[in-house]
Amino acid sequence: MYVPPNLITNHDLEKIMDTSDEWIKQRTGIEQRYWISMEGATGSSDLGLEASKMALANAGWTAEDLDFIIFATLSPDIMFPGSGCLLQAKLGLNSTPALDIRQQCSGFLYGLATADAYIKTGLAGKILLVGAEVHSSGLDKSTRGRDVTVIFGDGAAALCIEGIETDANAGVLASALHADGNYAEALMTELPASRLPIRIPPGVPIDDPRYYPVMDGPAIFKKAVRMLPQVINESLEKAQMSLDDIDLIVPHQANLRINQALGQFLKLDENKIFHNIQKYGNTTAASIPLALHEAMAQGRIGKSGDVVLFVGLGAGLTWGSVIYKFL
Ligand code: ACO
Repeated sequence: MYVPPNLITNHDLEKIMDTSDEWIKQRTGIEQRYWISMEGATGSSDLGLEASKMALANAGWTAEDLDFIIFATLSPDIMFPGSGCLLQAKLGLNSTPALDIRQQCSGFLYGLATADAYIKTGLAGKILLVGAEVHSSGLDKSTRGRDVTVIFGDGAAALCIEGIETDANAGVLASALHADGNYAEALMTELPASRLPIRIPPGVPIDDPRYYPVMDGPAIFKKAVRMLPQVINESLEKAQMSLDDIDLIVPHQANLRINQALGQFLKLDENKIFHNIQKYGNTTAASIPLALHEAMAQGRIGKSGDVVLFVGLGAGLTWGSVIYKFL
């Protein structure tokens, strides 16, 4: 995992907009987040590169070993080409296929399910899956945007995923993915828009709210607390498992209250669900793998036979759950 060095506390935000440390902590659990420096160009592929170099080193792989790169982000470096291509070049490669996944907070879940399908069908053996976001350069840092701006952090995390022949019941055991485009406008950044005759409409001031993410937070909150338990049960059914078989739930880190409500609804033991939103805010496609990295570093998960359940919901709307067993 990698986060940029620019630490932004809630108190730093109090200085630029009408908000408070107390409000942010009480409503979201977030205490701080990392944002890229305002000087110099740092895109999602740059953060993804740092995480990828560490993941490759940890796996003992070189970039040349990769058969496929999957890059999940809602904040691509540029409108096109995708950040996966940019990362591929930064890794020193020139023909490895690279796929971008645009599923926001569910990007990692869609990416992992895609990687699993590529491996199980023999299309790829060694895959680099990256989740990376630079939110901070696109946020409305005035009081108008405070509901969205205080929750987002920049960051990246990467996984090396390898297909191996084994009789063991391990790897991705089940995945359940969903989307409901009817709620697209509940969380979106509207401009630039290819559906308009001119995608950057002339005469629209640069601080127009359509250039910034807008969110119907309460509506998404309600959806999350309803859909997350459902999709967890769906993935458990597919894997023919129960919650007792899960060693740790690593959920998307969108709001501590959402994940605490999930824990209460499922009657989970406190230590069966992982939180780190306090330190990083919502890093969207990076959030689940970043949490996985920390859970593994803390020894909470990762031993042979351990079972982890990933779950999340975000813009799209998209949501899903993936169950993974360590070999
Ligand atoms: N500081 C101070 N006050 C604020 C702030 C802020 N940063 N933001 C909003 N407020 C105010 C509002 O103006 C409102 O004031 P009013 O009562 O006078 O009108 C009040 O606080 C309550 O606002 P709500 O929006 O009802 O607050 P809520 O408790 O719902 O918290 C939040 C807002 C944190 C956004 C919450 O709704 C949430 O987490 N929603 C889900 C987010 C999510 O999961 N998104 C999907 C993932 S992100 C992705 O996919 C990219």
